[in-house]
Amino acid sequence: MDVARLRSEIPAVQRMTYLNTGWSGPSPVSVVEAVQRRLEYESYNGPTSPDVIESGGEVALEAREAVAGLINASPDEVLLTSSTTDGINTVMAGLPWNAGDEIITCSLEHASILLPCYQLRRLRGVEVNVLSFAPDEARGSILDKVAGALTERTRMVFFSHVEYSTGLRMPVEAIRRLTAGRGVWTLIDGAQGVGHVQVDVRALDCDFYAMPGQKWLLGPDGTGALYIRKSMIPLVEPVRVSGSWAKSYDRSGGVDPDTDCIDKLAVGTVGSPVKAGLVEGIRFVGSVGAEAIESRVLALASMLAERLTRIPGVEVLSPTQGPGQSGLVTFTMAGRDPEETARRLWLSRRIVIRNVSYPECLRASLDFFNTEEEVEILADAVRSLA
Ligand SMILES: Cc1ncc(COP(=O)(O)O)c(C=O)c1O
Repeated sequence: MDVARLRSEIPAVQRMTYLNTGWSGPSPVSVVEAVQRRLEYESYNGPTSPDVIESGGEVALEAREAVAGLINASPDEVLLTSSTTDGINTVMAGLPWNAGDEIITCSLEHASILLPCYQLRRLRGVEVNVLSFAPDEARGSILDKVAGALTERTRMVFFSHVEYSTGLRMPVEAIRRLTAGRGVWTLIDGAQGVGHVQVDVRALDCDFYAMPGQKWLLGPDGTGALYIRKSMIPLVEPVRVSGSWAKSYDRSGGVDPDTDCIDKLAVGTVGSPVKAGLVEGIRFVGSVGAEAIESRVLALASMLAERLTRIPGVEVLSPTQGPGQSGLVTFTMAGRDPEETARRLWLSRRIVIRNVSYPECLRASLDFFNTEEEVEILADAVRSLA
């Protein structure tokens, strides 16, 4: 991998030590230009002129195909969304829940998982079982806890592919094997998955996979996608409804809903410029290669964890080796407030990392364009603060 060349195409990394892809990835110039080009083309050529409309449809199709190629899905199983959370809500609100159905999730999850579950509990009487996991909970223990929590009322297991809070990479495939044949839906939050670790929805055997465009795919804000296994599409009712829901309808109340087509879940006009940016982000990240990205981020993460562990008062919470490891490294510093520390690292060294509220810690994201030198810069800065 020619890291220097890739970095030369990403302006932000030349201006600061950017270690926060897990929040939002720094776009390469080509992504910004793709958005700009499409925006100008639409605006200057009449947004509803036939050529613009037709090519807008092509951009959307290209984006679906690009996502499908990335995760080994078929384009008709991919819905373009505006974010991970958008996709999650489409699934959670649209499934046929019964009061007393149970969802299994865990304590390390993002608000975008926990709160849609809690809302279903309030509105539909669904039970939510939040398993308590250590920041680096071992694979065997995760599987034991999930197996022990399954009941005949379990209707869904809902975990992140990679936990945003501690970088714990979840054994989602093995969890799926535990629930196979029991009528349990599997929804995976891929906010920290796609573009970071390799994703193959067929191998995962999941029913739903929600993902963003703006994080590890380096695309613009306002982009994302939702994978729904083909056979599951009829089960998800559109809760927010638009013209694409109906094959036909009349003025006296008649409607023939399109139950089988994922487009039934699309709502309103969504800008083509950001979709063009997403396509370019996927192309850029794809040119680096999923396998190469995964092995580089793991190497950088191991290096950072090793440097941090040597600093007195610093504790690394993330798994630092084995199948639970990812490119997210979270750590605490004795006597230091994480939010204030993140701010100081920015003000004093132009280092961008973030704090996480549960467990309270700092989080660095290592992406393929980051360097060993940047790892040393962060470790050095943490050492001086400690
Ligand atoms: C695990 C997880 N889920 C959901 C989200 C929210 O993502 P989005 O802004 O794409 O909805 C994040 C964002 O950091 C995340 O880490």
